[in-house]
Amino acid sequence: MASCSISSSFLLGFLVLALIHFNGTNALSSNYYDQTCPMVESTVTSVVKKAMLNDRTVPAALLRMHFHDCFIRGCDGSVLLNSTQMNQAEKDGPPNISLHAFYVIDNAKKYLEAMCPGTVSCADIVALAARDAVHLSGGPTWVVPKGRKDGRVSIASETRQLPAPTFNISQLQQSFSQRGLSMNDLVALSGGHTLGFAHCSSFQNRIHNFATTQDVDPSMHQSFAASLQIMCPLHNKVRNAGANLDSTPTTFDNRYYKLLLEGKSIFTSDQALLTDSTTKNLVTKFAYSRQEFEKAFVESMIKMSSISGGGQEVRLNCRFVN
Ligand code: HEM
Ligand SMILES: *[C@@H]1O[C@H](CO)[C@@H](O)[C@H](O)[C@H]1NC(C)=O
Ligand SMILES: *[C@@H]1O[C@H](CO)[C@@H](O)[C@H](O)[C@H]1NC(C)=O
Ligand SMILES: *[C@@H]1O[C@H](CO)[C@@H](O)[C@H](O)[C@H]1NC(C)=O
Repeated sequence: MASCSISSSFLLGFLVLALIHFNGTNALSSNYYDQTCPMVESTVTSVVKKAMLNDRTVPAALLRMHFHDCFIRGCDGSVLLNSTQMNQAEKDGPPNISLHAFYVIDNAKKYLEAMCPGTVSCADIVALAARDAVHLSGGPTWVVPKGRKDGRVSIASETRQLPAPTFNISQLQQSFSQRGLSMNDLVALSGGHTLGFAHCSSFQNRIHNFATTQDVDPSMHQSFAASLQIMCPLHNKVRNAGANLDSTPTTFDNRYYKLLLEGKSIFTSDQALLTDSTTKNLVTKFAYSRQEFEKAFVESMIKMSSISGGGQEVRLNCRFVN
């Protein structure tokens, strides 16, 4: 009897495991590398720290990289793959203008391959680096669930599935809900725009030829719009011209929400958060309380970074499939 029930519960466990596997959802866990690569977190943190000392734009780049990775094919490191002769990869797709700092991921990978070869996925490195980027910029920290696998596919044209900065609230809601993310997540994660920079092309729709009768988006603060027009003239030729996403672009704080309420956000998609009462109430809450923002951001980041991809391997070089 006893041995029968042991073996049947063993069989059951096996079946459950097989089912999980069959579903393609790699269950993530916070202690995934405890036995196989215990130094993974401290290694990534020190690489990110060192890179941001040399270049203050690194944290924003890493946070955006993780968002981009997770929204296309799940968090599977597809954003890191280089194009090949046969294939144009995501990083060479249309809105790649802001993707950079891939070398930071390469550096972390190099150390990790030396310490624990073939163990830590590139997708996990991106997730950890994004968390460190937020924390090292003065934001909250959290435990990152790990165990993602790297994908073997990256297609430039799929970056069209990213939400566009011109999206209205219903388009944003749809984009997020397709990935299992709520309106709460939309508002909290848009707070990622407390870090970083946007090129003129990403918000020119709001400051030139906005509508037949209005050159400028009327929901934008007037002198703020005028200052953006100076930095980004109609026929802008300066490739790196643009604007910071908030007035403290290297500090992770709730300033983004305060400015948003004043009509001083950069994208149509930011402004759109004020056009629905649910999202507007959340914006107001986060503008008033940095603590509430951080709590919500952490929760939503864990959700976003758990969007499962079809990854199957641990890449040896983050830029190439094995
Ligand atoms: C809600 C939908 C979103 C839209 C439409 C959107 C759009 C954009 C665009 C157009 C840029 C600027 C690209 C450029 O001109 O260089 C940008 C930058 C950025 N986004 Fe978003 N984004 C969204 C959500 C997110 C999320 C969820 C995060 C992370 C949690 C995020 C983090 C960032 C960061 C950090 C930057 C600055 C990048 C840098 O300075 O290198 N965004 N976003
Ligand atoms: C991947 O592509 C980048 C950008 O095009 C290039 O600089 C880099 O050398 C490539 N990486 C490798 C390892 O070939
Ligand atoms: C973006 O794509 C263009 C065109 O394919 C490419 O030349 C450029 O190197 C890419 N930028 C980054 C940061 O990968
Ligand atoms: C958002 O844009 C889509 C596509 O242009 C449109 O069909 C929809 O009605 C718009 N929604 C809102 C709330 O403006």
